[in-house]
Amino acid sequence: MSADVTLEDVREDAGGEEAEEQIDLAPVRKIVDSLAETRGMLIPVLQDVQKVYGYVPEEAANMVADQMGLYRSQVYGVLTFYTQFHLTPRGRHIIRACSGTACHVRGGKIVISKLESMLGIGHGETSEDMFASFEKVACLGACGLAPVIMIDNDAHGTLDPVKTERIVVNLREMDSMERGE
Ligand code: FES
Repeated sequence: MSADVTLEDVREDAGGEEAEEQIDLAPVRKIVDSLAETRGMLIPVLQDVQKVYGYVPEEAANMVADQMGLYRSQVYGVLTFYTQFHLTPRGRHIIRACSGTACHVRGGKIVISKLESMLGIGHGETSEDMFASFEKVACLGACGLAPVIMIDNDAHGTLDPVKTERIVVNLREMDSMERGE
């Protein structure tokens, strides 16, 4: 990636939209300052930035580059290389569905279709109301419970469309309660 590529270019390529809200960049300055030898600490710095915002905003990535004396393209190169980093805001809940072989042969495809239709989004997308982001993954390491999904840090196994629907409905109810709706 050349030195004049910006995160905006990357986002446009990914079909993402620029966040409209102004973000508070004070935490970014603190994160970079707190790591004395920051030049070799780009990944930990970006991980900490993502912990604060839930993703790595363009302004924060630029500030990291400027403060660490790096080309912005170096920072964007890392952000786009590692799948752990997210360039756009993510939903309040992360739903991962396994599309590995064990899950696939035990009905994983129907579970995935059910999730996609209930959430109204596909792989790598976030619902408009920011309720959830959805991802398909290769294997969740719980093949004995196939088909499996993870919601945030909780695994749900031996699923069928009915159980899947119940889980998503419960999650929505819990989410609404937590938001005082
Ligand atoms: S194949 Fe689905 S958890 Fe391993």
